[in-house]
Amino acid sequence: MSSPLLAGKVISITGAGSGIGRSCAIRLAQDGAKVSLTDMSSELLEETIELVCTVTSRENVLGRVLDIVDRQEVDACVEETVRRFGKLDGAVNAAGVHPKESGKEPIWNVTDDDWAFAQDVNVRGTLNLVRQGGFFGVPVNRRPGSICSVKGGAKLAAYTASKHAVVGLMRAAAIDAAPHDIRVNAICPGPIDTPMLRSTVDAEKRDAMARSLPIQRLGGAEEVAHLASFLVSDRSKFITGSVQMIDGGQSAA
Ligand SMILES: NC(=O)c1ccc[n+]([C@@H]2O[C@H](COP(=O)([O-])OP(=O)(O)OC[C@H]3O[C@@H](n4cnc5c(N)ncnc54)[C@H](O)[C@@H]3O)[C@@H](O)[C@H]2O)c1
Repeated sequence: MSSPLLAGKVISITGAGSGIGRSCAIRLAQDGAKVSLTDMSSELLEETIELVCTVTSRENVLGRVLDIVDRQEVDACVEETVRRFGKLDGAVNAAGVHPKESGKEPIWNVTDDDWAFAQDVNVRGTLNLVRQGGFFGVPVNRRPGSICSVKGGAKLAAYTASKHAVVGLMRAAAIDAAPHDIRVNAICPGPIDTPMLRSTVDAEKRDAMARSLPIQRLGGAEEVAHLASFLVSDRSKFITGSVQMIDGGQSAA
């Protein structure tokens, strides 16, 4: 019998409390990884830990409440993960935000607050994950990856700009990290049916969105999680600096 895809791996996941991050936590644990899970919300994180514990034993799971914008917190979490599991093989950054006015206001009404919020969480938070202290010092293969988006959208300037910045950040990181045997990739999902999508797009618009995709339906968070699992596994050894579309054909249309 072959061993699970991520047997022996230790992977950290941000934004593990909801949507794509939660599905990644469950999938990666199911694929055999020990997981270090973080989220800003202790309540959501606890719910995820309970779900993850239905597919792996509690000793394979570490949970910590943190804000990815806080660099010291992110660094401390890496240290705790390495202390607990002995190493860190990869990271999936699924924490991200839609600023308040996302989907409501055209670009000329973007506020400084919305702009700063998107840049802070989506870009600086991702930078914190990639440059996290200790991560590059651990003597194993590391694979950070982030969930971003390369499509623009009406009234989404602050969000779209921040997510395009993340793609640039991941590409630059991949080049710097490659000589150290560290791979860095970006996952760019189309519309995925998660709490974030439900809170920013009403049911009627979500239906229209689904119909507009070549595949005629929204994506599931667990489908993105399968891709994340592959990217942090040894099966994707030659893939780095890539931008992986997972969008039901949206970018092809
Ligand atoms: N759902 C989609 O259609 C879609 C499409 C493209 C990209 N994305 C991106 O994928 C990622 C996950 O999206 P989702 O739909 O699962 O969202 P979600 O809102 O369901 O989950 C995001 C999680 O991140 C956490 N979080 C937010 N800010 C944080 C911070 N500063 N520090 C720590 N945790 C924080 C939230 O508490 C939440 O649990 C986001 O970056 C999002 O922009 C989503």
